[in-house]
Amino acid sequence: MIDKARTLPADQVFLDLEDACAPLAKPDARKTIVASLNEGGWGDKARVVRVNDWTTEWTYRDVTEVVEGAGANLDCLMLPKVQTAEQVHALDLLLTQIEKTMGYEVGKIGIEAQIENAQGLVNVNAIATASPRVETIIFGPADFMASINMKSLVVGEQPPGYDVGDAYHYILMQILMAARANDLQAIDGPYLQIRDVDGFKRVAGRSAALGFDGKWVLHPGQIDAANETYSPLQEDYEHAENILDAYEYFTSEAGGRRGAVMLGDEMIDEASRKMALVISSKGRAAGMKRESPWTPPEA
Ligand code: GLV
Ligand code: MG
Repeated sequence: MIDKARTLPADQVFLDLEDACAPLAKPDARKTIVASLNEGGWGDKARVVRVNDWTTEWTYRDVTEVVEGAGANLDCLMLPKVQTAEQVHALDLLLTQIEKTMGYEVGKIGIEAQIENAQGLVNVNAIATASPRVETIIFGPADFMASINMKSLVVGEQPPGYDVGDAYHYILMQILMAARANDLQAIDGPYLQIRDVDGFKRVAGRSAALGFDGKWVLHPGQIDAANETYSPLQEDYEHAENILDAYEYFTSEAGGRRGAVMLGDEMIDEASRKMALVISSKGRAAGMKRESPWTPPEA
């Protein structure tokens, strides 16, 4: 699986020491992870390891073994079930000590904080600002559903009986606000029915529509769906680029220094430029190309 993961078109790979790793397998898994990180071959993927949460007895060994062994080849640690800012702070302190001891650049290793229970959600803003290492806030739907006693076993899908909206909207929005307020990435968690790609797309589509940056995949079969869902539609990407070009032209001397103009049937202004920038940035990051660029009117 690790060898195959190196070749797949995902933006990030995380190697798990937490819930996908049985307690008896954890000591060997730490060694496998260190060896795989040091072996390289990950291209430009972010290389992340999920350690166990601070309420277990495993966290400090996960961190020291992995970071001492492979810190030079590691981008972030993922901290699951974060409940308080202090838990992020504790990881920051431990990382700083290891970085100093090993001669790594201090602060190089980032933290991805997973919000997986009610306490974590209540404290999400403090968690987001607990350390400059925090890069990403992740929703952990499975643990979260268990933590709030949600009456369902199907992760990400609406709980049976709830037919008046999206049962995850409040949680997703809280995470998204904490991420956007602090310039962090917001990432949606796993969809466990790995053969149901339509189901994956449906659930991913909701967080993508709100503004989330991406979603976990558990299986190679989910990767194309994730890349597609979190990228703009081709027509929206082209429209966004056209808004940017048109707005730049019309606000210029040559374009008449106009702040609000018509682009087709639509009025565009500075706020349109900001919205367009979001879509164009996502499109450019996904390598999308323009087919029919806007051209200024003949002088
Ligand atoms: C992921 O860790 C989850 O609990 O959904
Ligand atoms: Mg979890």
